Amino acid sequence: MKWTLASDIDGTLTGDRPALDRLAARLTEAKAAGDLYLILSTGRRLEQVIEGVAQEGLPEPDAVICQVGTEIYLPPLRPDSQPMPAWRDRLLRDYTRDDALSFLEGIEGLVMQPDKFNTELKTSCYLDGCPQPDEAAEEIRRRVEPFADRYQAVWSSGRDLDVLPAASGKGKAIRFLIEQQGLAPDSVVVAGDTGNDGAMFMEFRKGVVVSNAQPELLALAESPAGSEAYVARRAHAAGVEEGLEHFGVLSRTRVES
Ligand code: GLC
Repeated sequence: MKWTLASDIDGTLTGDRPALDRLAARLTEAKAAGDLYLILSTGRRLEQVIEGVAQEGLPEPDAVICQVGTEIYLPPLRPDSQPMPAWRDRLLRDYTRDDALSFLEGIEGLVMQPDKFNTELKTSCYLDGCPQPDEAAEEIRRRVEPFADRYQAVWSSGRDLDVLPAASGKGKAIRFLIEQQGLAPDSVVVAGDTGNDGAMFMEFRKGVVVSNAQPELLALAESPAGSEAYVARRAHAAGVEEGLEHFGVLSRTRVES
């Protein structure tokens, strides 16, 4: 069976280089055998993904989803590659930066992320300087709620708040991509560690939560919506490898303890 792995990068694949090297070798082998389609699904910009493949040991992907599911790229990947126009056009229909910024007005302690992380389809700030970050995130969520047909607020790691098009996010971007590539939804296994990965677990039932995951993703995995999620005992790439063995994407190489 041909599987699709859609994995987050930071904290999920990265964090333990020897484990990543071992996993990357196995994924590369599975790809070469035609058994795997690999999607890297990240909050990073494309240049940072390309750097990651060159310098951090990330496996060469078949497709990349960047900026928290607002951009999709297919190889060849170059720093100046343009995101898939069909996905961009669809998201632009319902999103303006002015609207997105209006949800963030007057929140005490909020700091906008650097310009390179703010795009026409992603409005991102830090809330870790707010007196109560979780409450600030809740307040932004409340403001977005009446406009939920067009906007969503994604809260990750006690720090990052992204206002995105409602139709975007990592989960919906993967769905769009696999339909476009003719891949079966049942073949998808996702992997992640923070809040922005939650959308992947909501869209696709089979998922691996690495043991170093943030509380918001662990809470989702323990809720009914996350009932098929596998919470690994190991961290980072070793946890992803363990989860892929659990789902049968990779064959077991060791007896589970
Ligand atoms: C990545 C992005 C950042 C975003 C965060 C959470 O770190 O660079 O802009 O806020 O992911 O989605």
